Amino acid sequence: MQKVTSVKALRDIVQQWKQQGLCIAFVPTMGNLHAGHIKLVTEAKKKADRIVVSIFVNPTQFGVGEDFKSYPRTEELDQELLNAASADLLFLPTVLEMYPQQSKTVVSVADLSQSHCGAHRVGHFDGVATVVAKLFNIVQPDLAVFGEKDFQQLLVIKQMVKDLNMAIDIIGVATERESDGLAMSSRNAYLSKQQRLVAVQMYLSLCKAKESVLSAEQGMSTTESQQQKCLENFGFKVDYFSICRNDNLQQATDTDEQIVILVAAKLGSTRLIDNICFNRNPTIN
Ligand code: PAF
Repeated sequence: MQKVTSVKALRDIVQQWKQQGLCIAFVPTMGNLHAGHIKLVTEAKKKADRIVVSIFVNPTQFGVGEDFKSYPRTEELDQELLNAASADLLFLPTVLEMYPQQSKTVVSVADLSQSHCGAHRVGHFDGVATVVAKLFNIVQPDLAVFGEKDFQQLLVIKQMVKDLNMAIDIIGVATERESDGLAMSSRNAYLSKQQRLVAVQMYLSLCKAKESVLSAEQGMSTTESQQQKCLENFGFKVDYFSICRNDNLQQATDTDEQIVILVAAKLGSTRLIDNICFNRNPTIN
């Protein structure tokens, strides 16, 4: 795997590949890679000739008091994992390389960026959309791969790509889970042993909510508040537990079929998110 830190060096390599007619996939990350990230690389390899991975802890998507400074940085280990996964090119820019001057441009995807995590992390999705747009302009991939664990982020990026006529296929990959069901996340490393045991309750509450929606035994808002209460009893501080349409994250109604249940909650100072996506009526097309 080649490694570059400058935009120019990256562009030179990608340009050569493009001249050879190769299909290029891009996997943007913030590092501290785990099996979930490696799955993104593996999926990318099924669809493209060359895989570019970026590791950049993007300051503009962190709010005041969030974990930008303490975000785990494990570049050597990350490189070993990417080598083993046969990634072709690693882009490791500094903050100065990505933001060399005071930027005046922000990419903001209206509506989708304001609800759920956007309401609790104001400006977060503007930071994400802006850095992903910059990375897309730098790498110019044919396709880019993102985890479905960050479901709202995936929708924001799909909308941005559509609105800005970016000729990039956005591929979502199913969440990789620990053996007990906890969604893999770099932030799981912040959990104490005790918190780690409790953390799985988040996934279990999503599964219970899914069962309740499928059985239609009670209204969806009752299910939401029941599961929120259940998580609070385990010590979570819940930002939201919402049953939504999976295309626009509007509150789901009884006639909606494509459902995503989204949850975000803090255990101590660690903020975790997860979701479960399903069709309420799988037999009807
Ligand atoms: O999902 C992430 O790791 C980040 O939000 C991303 C997409 C790499 C942008 O910084």
